[in-house]
Amino acid sequence: MTKLLISLALLSITTCLAQQIPYRQLNDGHKIPIVGLGGNHVTEQSIKDALDAGYRHIDTSLNYMGGASEAAIGKVLKETFKEGKIKRQDVYITSKLETEYHPRKQVSEGIKKSLTNLGLEYLDLYLIHTPASSNGTNITVGETWEGMIDVLKANLTRSIGVSNFNEKQLDEVIAKGVVPVTNQIICNPYINQNQILSYLNKHNITLTAYSPIGGTRYPDLLKDKKLIEIGAKHNVTSAQVALRFEIQRDIIVIPNSQNPKYLKENVDLFNFKLTDEEIKEIEALNKN
Ligand SMILES: NC(=O)c1ccc[n+]([C@@H]2O[C@H](COP(=O)([O-])OP(=O)(O)OC[C@H]3O[C@@H](n4cnc5c(N)ncnc54)[C@H](OP(=O)(O)O)[C@@H]3O)[C@@H](O)[C@H]2O)c1
Repeated sequence: MTKLLISLALLSITTCLAQQIPYRQLNDGHKIPIVGLGGNHVTEQSIKDALDAGYRHIDTSLNYMGGASEAAIGKVLKETFKEGKIKRQDVYITSKLETEYHPRKQVSEGIKKSLTNLGLEYLDLYLIHTPASSNGTNITVGETWEGMIDVLKANLTRSIGVSNFNEKQLDEVIAKGVVPVTNQIICNPYINQNQILSYLNKHNITLTAYSPIGGTRYPDLLKDKKLIEIGAKHNVTSAQVALRFEIQRDIIVIPNSQNPKYLKENVDLFNFKLTDEEIKEIEALNKN
């Protein structure tokens, strides 16, 4: 009995401490939590820690960790649903179509593999991971997008989008009659993507920022003196400043970490606000 009471007390503390992450409306009417867990390096423990910290959005792909990312996410979700802590409709799961499934008829095979790995009946969001054609064949992004529309109509996913697309490639898929809900691209203070952001805003397509705190391409981002200086004023870290910079520009972020301290820090973004002047100073850090 005492054990049960202690567990209940701990559960309620976890619930109180977990962040409530705001949602953003997508152009197809669905909504997405504006902070998600990047899933290219996960363990079952880091996924559990993220859920405990309040994450309700996880980004993965068929080929992350050779399939082990989707498998680990699927295992944790199955346990979590069974415990009744979180229901399927409470989590937002994104996965991605890999190049070998780019021919229209193979798109459904790609998504079904991800659904099997994840143990889910539907995804919330399915993305074309990259516009590159497979094995030197000349499959256009338009053809692959038709396959994406097929799996949307078959209710295998709630929404569809793209990743690593430029404006020309976006024009080609929009011409097929369904506008992607998001374009997931690298974006952080060193590569702020202002140009494509105007295009995306014009078409009501969200920008999802990968490597929002630098990733492997900008390993020195968090050591930037300006980000540290602005963070000190708000009593937050340079990572929180980089993430908050994106959120204030209506950008969705999917930082990755396996460290419980960082996982909490990366969703603790809603108790401070950058000033317009600070946003301008951060925009001036752009290197692209
Ligand atoms: N669509 C695409 O083509 C594409 C490409 C790349 C990534 N992605 C997605 O985007 C996600 C995130 O991108 P990413 O992993 O490249 O980059 P990232 O999230 O910007 O950076 C991850 C790195 O930052 C460290 N870190 C995390 N939080 C921190 C904090 N608060 N303070 C200090 N260091 C911190 C992590 O270290 P620890 O591991 O030690 O915590 C890790 O080394 C991926 O997981 C994946 O889901 C998509």
